[in-house]
Amino acid sequence: MNDCARRIAIDSDSAAQTLKTELLAHLRSQEVAVTDVEYLASHPGVEYPDIAFNLAHSVRGGEFDRGILLCGTGLGMAICANKVPGIYAGTCHDVYSAERLRRSNAAQIITLGQRVIGVELAKKIVDAWLSAGAVDGRSAKKVERLQELEASEHKAFATPPPAIRAEP
Ligand code: RB5
Repeated sequence: MNDCARRIAIDSDSAAQTLKTELLAHLRSQEVAVTDVEYLASHPGVEYPDIAFNLAHSVRGGEFDRGILLCGTGLGMAICANKVPGIYAGTCHDVYSAERLRRSNAAQIITLGQRVIGVELAKKIVDAWLSAGAVDGRSAKKVERLQELEASEHKAFATPPPAIRAEP
């Protein structure tokens, strides 16, 4: 199991430390080569955006084959990781989606929320994602199209996006 993914990085913000500890132990018990990045420990006070960017860049740069990012909901981590060019990340809280995240979407990063699911389900989801094969034949063209669109988007948008205003 999990033999197609060799170097796995895992990290979390303060909202998902327990889930990270549990998943680390689970993966190591299966002899998965998983590295706990612990960006928060080396950069006290950082929140999910920096943690997600750091891990996503490590995957983009080839230091790791895949990454697991954990926060309260999984959502912030996915949004941030997807900002790194060439990185595809998705939040999964069910086993079917986890398998499709690889086979349909070729995602190198999965994100989960400690405040959303229990530990035992999270283990099954991560196992399904790690053991899923490569992108399937019908989906490869769609992922290629995504890559083309991404490349054209990067060319088209040299200007920064509009500011996001918080509600009072
Ligand atoms: C807590 O900071 C929470 O906002 C975070 O863990 C995550 O759920 C964001 O998407």
